[in-house]
Amino acid sequence: MIPTDRVVIVGAGLGALYAALVMAPRPVLMISPDPLGQGASSAWAQGGVAAAMDPADSADAHAADTVRAGAGTVNPEVARLVTAEARAHILTLTTLGTPFDRDPAGEYVLSREAAHSFARVVRVKGDQAGAEIMRALVAAVRAAPSVQVLEGFVATSLLLEAGGVAGIHLARAMGSQPVAIRAPAVLIAGGGSGGLYSVTTNPPRIRGEAIGMAARAGAVIADAEFVQFHPTAIASGEDPAPLATEALRGEGALLVNAAGQRFMTALHPDAELAPRDIVARGVYAEWRAGRVPALDCRKALSARILTQFPAVAAACVRAGIDPVRQPIPVAAAAHYHMGGIETDWDGRSSLPGLWACGEAASTGLHGANRLASNGLLEALVFARRAALSIGAGPAAAPPVILPELPPAPLPDPTLVMRLREAMTAGAGVLRDAVGLQAALRVIAEVEAGQSDCPQLQNMTATATLICAAALLRRESRGAHARTDHPHTAAPHRSRMTLSQALALRPAPEPEPL
Ligand code: SIN
Repeated sequence: MIPTDRVVIVGAGLGALYAALVMAPRPVLMISPDPLGQGASSAWAQGGVAAAMDPADSADAHAADTVRAGAGTVNPEVARLVTAEARAHILTLTTLGTPFDRDPAGEYVLSREAAHSFARVVRVKGDQAGAEIMRALVAAVRAAPSVQVLEGFVATSLLLEAGGVAGIHLARAMGSQPVAIRAPAVLIAGGGSGGLYSVTTNPPRIRGEAIGMAARAGAVIADAEFVQFHPTAIASGEDPAPLATEALRGEGALLVNAAGQRFMTALHPDAELAPRDIVARGVYAEWRAGRVPALDCRKALSARILTQFPAVAAACVRAGIDPVRQPIPVAAAAHYHMGGIETDWDGRSSLPGLWACGEAASTGLHGANRLASNGLLEALVFARRAALSIGAGPAAAPPVILPELPPAPLPDPTLVMRLREAMTAGAGVLRDAVGLQAALRVIAEVEAGQSDCPQLQNMTATATLICAAALLRRESRGAHARTDHPHTAAPHRSRMTLSQALALRPAPEPEPL
C-alpha cells in the first residue's frame, strides 16, 4: 500500500485534465492509460461544445432544447445550471489556447446540430474540436507542477475502507498485478461505455471500466440503460467506426438509401436534423432492410468537405471512399453513455470519498437522449464543480513512486469480443426482453471465463447494469427503444446498484460434460 496526499484522478480525458487544472496547486495523481492526450474519447469528439455564444441565443433556450431532446428525464435545474455556465467555460478554453473558429469580425463560428433551435456549437477547424481542446489542456497540464501523470497505467478497482473510498488499485495498462494507493479523494473521469458494443465510435479503451469499477465498489449507477447510438458512423469495417459528424447534416448533407431516396423525411418533420435517437433508428431500419444507408455530402459540401471536415475526409480516404463524389455509407454505432455513476451537483457519488465527472457520471443533464455537443460541456462544468467540492489540501506532496509490478494477464480478447457482440445484438438500437436476457446470460459466461481479471469484471459489471436496467424499463424512451414495450410510461430516472442488477442476471450455462 502506497499512501499519498495527492488526489487521484482516474482517466486523462477532458474532465480529468480540466479538474486537475482547477484543483491546482493541490497535488494530483492522474492515471492515464495511454500517453497523455491519446486514447480518450474527448480527443475524438468532432462537433464541439454547445454554448449560447450568439447574443440572439440564450442559456435558457439551450436548457429548453436539452430538456426537450432528453425525452422527459432531464433534470431541468441541472440543464439550467450547465447551460448558464457554458459561456464562461468557452472563454476559459479560449484563454488556455483553444483555437476556436472565428469569423472575420472575431466572433465564434457556430455550427448547427440536430435538435438545437439555434446554431450554438463552438467548433475548431470544422471537426477538430475535441483534438484541439485536448491539445490545449494537455499543454497546460504538462506545465502544471502540481500534476503527476502516470502514463501507461489503469485503475483496476477502488480501495474501500470504513464504508468509503480510500484510494485505488492500479496496474500497468499492458498487464500487471495491481498495487494499492491510499489517497484523500478519488475523482473518476475515465469515460463511458461505447466500446462495450461491437459497433462503436469510441476508442478501444472506453469499455465501461470506469463505471464498472465504481459499481463493483457499491456506487449507485443511474440511467444505465440510456446508451446513445450515433446515426452516422462510417460503415467502412474499421473498429472503432470513424464518425461522420452531425455538423455535416447541419450543413445540409442528406441521408439516402441505395436507391438514392431520402428516408428521414418520412420519419420526422426535421428529417436529417431530427433528434439523434430518431435518426439512429431510421438509419438502423434501412441497414436492417439491406438498403445501405449513406450520407450524401456531394451537393451540400462538395470539395469543402476535404478542408472543412478533415477527420471525416481522412476516414473516407482510408476506406477508399471519395466523399466529394460518393455518398458515405453509414451505420448506427454506440457513441455515448447517458447513464453512469450517479452524482450530485458537485460531482459527489453515493460513496464517501468518490467523485465522478464526464461520461462516467450521470448528473441528470442528458436524460434518455443527449443533445449534441452537450457531452464536452457537461464534462467541463462538472469537472470544475467536483474539483471545487474536493477542495483545498496540502500545497505540496512528493511524487508517487511505484515498485516493479509482476506481470498479469489482460482481458482475453476473445471474451471481450463475445461480450461486445452480445451487447450489440441484445442491448443495441432496438431491444426486447428476450434479447436482453440472452445478453445477460452471455455476460455471465464471459465473466466466469476469466474471473480473476479485474478489468474484465469492470466491463461485465457495466454491461450487466445496462442490460438489467434496460430489462426493468418496460417502455420506450429516447435512445431506449423496446420493441416489446413501444409505448412511453410515466417518466422516471433509474437508479441501481450492481447487486440489484446481478439479481436479474441468469447464472451462466454449465459446461457440457
Ligand atoms: C458529432 O459531432 O456528431 C458528435 C457530437 C456529439 O456527440 O456531441
